[in-house]
Amino acid sequence: MDWNEFAPWGRLVADWAADYHRSVGERPVRARTRPGAILDALPASPPDTAQDMEDVFADFERIVMPGITHWQHPRFFAYFNSNTSPPSVLAEFLVAAIAPQCMLWQTSPAATEMETRMMDWLRQALDLPEGFAGVIQDSASSATLAAVLTMRERALDWTGNRTGLAGQARLRVYASSEVHSSIDRAIWIAGIGQDNLVRIPIAGPARGMDPRALEDAIARDRAAGLTPAGVILCVGGTGTGATDPVASCIDVAERHGLYTHVDAAWAGSAMICPEYRPMWDGVGRADSIVFNPHKWLGVQFDCSAHFLRNPGDLVRTLAISPEYLRTHGAEGIVNYSEWSIPLGRRFRALKLWFVIRAYGLDGLRQRLRNHIRWSEELHDRLAATDGFEIVTPPMWSLWTFRYAPDGVADLDALNLALVNAINDDGRIYLTQTRVDGNLVIRFQAGQFDTTREDVMMAHDVICEIARGLAP
Ligand SMILES: Cc1ncc(COP(=O)(O)O)c(C=O)c1O
Repeated sequence: MDWNEFAPWGRLVADWAADYHRSVGERPVRARTRPGAILDALPASPPDTAQDMEDVFADFERIVMPGITHWQHPRFFAYFNSNTSPPSVLAEFLVAAIAPQCMLWQTSPAATEMETRMMDWLRQALDLPEGFAGVIQDSASSATLAAVLTMRERALDWTGNRTGLAGQARLRVYASSEVHSSIDRAIWIAGIGQDNLVRIPIAGPARGMDPRALEDAIARDRAAGLTPAGVILCVGGTGTGATDPVASCIDVAERHGLYTHVDAAWAGSAMICPEYRPMWDGVGRADSIVFNPHKWLGVQFDCSAHFLRNPGDLVRTLAISPEYLRTHGAEGIVNYSEWSIPLGRRFRALKLWFVIRAYGLDGLRQRLRNHIRWSEELHDRLAATDGFEIVTPPMWSLWTFRYAPDGVADLDALNLALVNAINDDGRIYLTQTRVDGNLVIRFQAGQFDTTREDVMMAHDVICEIARGLAP
């Protein structure tokens, strides 16, 4: 295929994409293939001769599409959404066509300078203090790893990278039990060790870390000769939307000189709406904050916004500049590969630019407010429906429930059967989690194009399927 043949295919793909999005709500949300079916349909060996694009595209529709779970389905209420939107797809198409590798300023100044500007637009959109600088990471997991490495190096007086961890002080990092598994993984990779991730008890309906328990744990560790390094705070945890009292926890961290990282991967997007900002009051004193525009802002994966109060600490932890990566003769430039773990970088800022301009912050705010309002409305309806109990209250657009009709001994088994039956049915898609040891069902609304009718349909589907399972 050459670039002359590309153009008509590009138009065909654009038409296909528009049709797909217009009709995706008619498909079952979750893929219905059996494990191994797609693998079996793919030839075991690569072709030696060129094949027609007609055949490739026909196979794409025949083999691939049946194995897709439709994340852009308006009734995808599982996990956290990973949205896209038309301007985001256009920007990604352009980036795919230009295919720049943006590791250094000189390898595409436009990408670097666009990233600087977009991260400052987002900083303003979230009302973070001036002085915070940002970088786009591929995922929140990478941002958290970068933050944990920074807290490690800072606590070891910047010796860990050079001398290794053997013989060093035993570091301690503090977080609640509600943080995402990416925090545990960052702790493993940083060589701190799972046993040194100290779980602080939670309290209250927001299931946030108890600051007094945090203070006590740090004091105990110091008395035992251990070295507290940092605190990881959760704003909008994955299971139930758990949210730590950020200001009080940062007070404690500041008293002890600890580095703080806030994981707001999902809920951070909501902070473009001023009315939700009290829920992370104090965040302007954090050292590091991550949120994912690729979750709730219509900017497709991957685009994780990582803000730093003092980027110098991160750069001191991660920057390596061999001669071949140096940019001579240009002053005041930023090389974002020094702010992240991979060297190579995609041009991710372009989709932010397209999306923010295409909708304006008001357009994005309106969508998020609708999702939250409709989710609360569904919550109220289910709370008033016989046989259902709400387990955790709405945190933005996420809450959990349980089907608990009279006379059922094993509610975990019943609710697992319910979530499986709902997902096999295909009209909506939900996931389960555990709260205080019990299996519960999560509901969250956040697909970019979902409507009130889509959200309300969940009530009918849940009740209809639950009644069919009742003993
Ligand atoms: C609270 C929270 N933190 C971190 C992550 C990891 O995000 P990513 O896939 O961008 O690494 C998730 C994923 O859903 C999450 O919900």
